[in-house]
Amino acid sequence: MIHIKKNQKDNLELSIYRYNSSISSYPYMKSYFFQMEKVKGKMLLDLLIQVKKKDPSFSFRMSCGQGVCGSDGMNINGRNGLSCITSVDWLIKRNKKIVIKPLTGFPILKDLIVDLSSFFNQYQKVLPYIIKDQKDIFDKRKNIQKVDSRNQLEGLYECILCACCSSSCPSFWWNEKKFLGPAAILVLYRFLLDDRDHGNDLRLRRLHDHFSVFKCHNIMNCVSFCPKKLNPNKAIRSVKIMLLKHIFKKINKKL
Ligand code: SF4
Ligand code: F3S
Repeated sequence: MIHIKKNQKDNLELSIYRYNSSISSYPYMKSYFFQMEKVKGKMLLDLLIQVKKKDPSFSFRMSCGQGVCGSDGMNINGRNGLSCITSVDWLIKRNKKIVIKPLTGFPILKDLIVDLSSFFNQYQKVLPYIIKDQKDIFDKRKNIQKVDSRNQLEGLYECILCACCSSSCPSFWWNEKKFLGPAAILVLYRFLLDDRDHGNDLRLRRLHDHFSVFKCHNIMNCVSFCPKKLNPNKAIRSVKIMLLKHIFKKINKKL
């Protein structure tokens, strides 16, 4: 059992961003203190749950608690990550104070809870599901994936839509309605490579503009902050090439 104690020299300080628009229009940082020996071996999520028990007014999202659902993305000491797979031992090796803020670039609803509508709106635009030819729709043999095609999805299918990448991307901050963002493009690439899918033309022809994909300027924060160690930039570079080929093909047809 972790005890939240008043500040003492050897305590761990957890400084959390608090905001409740129904009480005040100003956010503030609130500190909670833990005995150092009681936090050994814990994950950051365990501490947040203890804070919630002591202070029910505090709000944050969580679900699976094991890095699968992607609900508890947040900014931890300046880096985006998932609290459930962030070790407190690892954090306190660097500092006895942990600063927790909501994911950057999204409107804050309450405390650590952000409005992810813009993130999921962009995700929807890539049509993130298998699109079949109408004539093959009832042919089960056409649903069988080739081993090579399956292998190409390594490093793509693992995305859990936690938004840690898009939240760290300045291009997404300034163009959230026009630039798809790293997560949506990584998922787009996953479907473009799937040999059971026949939606490539439909997907790519919707992206013939300067912003949707080409607004990525290789800033690379998405790669540094992905808690699943994925590489959205690599996927974006491949999609840019596919998109350019698609655009030139359309132009050549018109000539
Ligand atoms: Fe999260 Fe990584 Fe997927 Fe981005 S690519 S949403 S950081 S799992
Ligand atoms: Fe943004 Fe990643 Fe590109 S941080 S600009 S999507 S490389």
